[in-house]
Amino acid sequence: MPASVLPVVQRAHGVMIHDVDGRDYLDGCSGTVCVNIGHGVPEVLDAMASQARRVTFAHRSQFRNEPLTDLSATILSLAGEGFEEVVYTNSGSEAMETALRLMTHHHAGSARRVVVTQRPSYHGMTAGALAISAHPPRRANLESMLHGVGEVVHVESSDTAEIFPSLEDWMRVLNRFDPGEVAAVCFEPVGGAAGGGAEVSTETQRGLREFCDSSGALMIVDEVMTGFGRTGEWFGFTPSGVTPDLIVTGKGLSAGYIPIGACIVAATVLPGRSANDFSLGHTMSGNPLSAATALAVLNYTIDNKLVECARERGRRLRDELTALARDVDFLRPPRGRGLLLGAPIDQDPAGYATAPLNLLFTANARQCGLLVYPSGVDAHTQSVLVCPPLTISDAELDVLIARLADAARRTSQARTR
Ligand SMILES: Cc1ncc(COP(=O)(O)O)c(C=O)c1O
Repeated sequence: MPASVLPVVQRAHGVMIHDVDGRDYLDGCSGTVCVNIGHGVPEVLDAMASQARRVTFAHRSQFRNEPLTDLSATILSLAGEGFEEVVYTNSGSEAMETALRLMTHHHAGSARRVVVTQRPSYHGMTAGALAISAHPPRRANLESMLHGVGEVVHVESSDTAEIFPSLEDWMRVLNRFDPGEVAAVCFEPVGGAAGGGAEVSTETQRGLREFCDSSGALMIVDEVMTGFGRTGEWFGFTPSGVTPDLIVTGKGLSAGYIPIGACIVAATVLPGRSANDFSLGHTMSGNPLSAATALAVLNYTIDNKLVECARERGRRLRDELTALARDVDFLRPPRGRGLLLGAPIDQDPAGYATAPLNLLFTANARQCGLLVYPSGVDAHTQSVLVCPPLTISDAELDVLIARLADAARRTSQARTR
């Protein structure tokens, strides 16, 4: 939708957003899958106001600040054993950029130049993060900028029924190189803007960990969308039991209350040296106001058991989406985990080229008072993400499903006309 015709937002509370013309929208995609705790949570707003009255900015080269110290301790305790440090940024893209820089410092002086990621994938808009992303629409016209990260190789599924590659697909690509050439493998454990809820299997994650252990390559896990509870676990990699070398986060860390991202660094990276001793930060990185806000968001997530909520509500939403897919000609059964669910869309490539159905479905949902998020890079991968805040109640889920069914009906009718 062109920006000039978008409604003007007035206020938001819980799962509802209101525009200045009096219309309400159920936020069925948490903005861009970031507002995990819902809008306008008083505890977070109070923490922000109280921190703002004390101090909003003090540069990390001049002062330490208490909320940041507490935030790092909380993040490290959630990440589990093996992690030592957190490097802060203002966004998920910058956090991925930071991971790539740490990878480069870690391998300095070696022949490692190959970074392997999945097709499709999205890792951010900055040049390095976009360089490793297999997202053709977002790379369009920018190819000339995307050459700063060694040799980037995208591995795709050999099975057309799958979105993400299997371990065999990964290994076929990795085995093309001398193990001493591979700098890192990087993946989103559950796909978002590109992968629409597709999952990297536990077997694949463990196999990649083994490859990294034996070859010396780093495992970078992009948890920008999956991190901090969205998938019904603290992190998307948690069920596989692997320990990544670098975890990239953003979105749910502050749930949209303030810009912040973070790269969580394992002891295996640059052993004996501190990641924060390298020049990686931005002016605003780790400022007290962002830190206090993220800390309040994580505490709210913990206190209200929102990770469990994501698991429970996700189960119900998955059942509802499965039922809807039985009734709607262009919908297929959902993919994903917890409350990171994608509703895949069936459309022949010719139709996609002229009018992608996921965009039409998203526009119809908006007409019905529901926000969903279109995902995918082509006809085969297109879906809509249905990812409400983890706080959504059963009654609100009823409204979400009713509006989604209405939007699906309108979309079907528009196709057959
Ligand atoms: C998996 C993933 N990585 C990185 C990013 C980039 O994060 P940001 O938009 O905060 O820069 C996104 C954003 O959608 C994402 O979904």
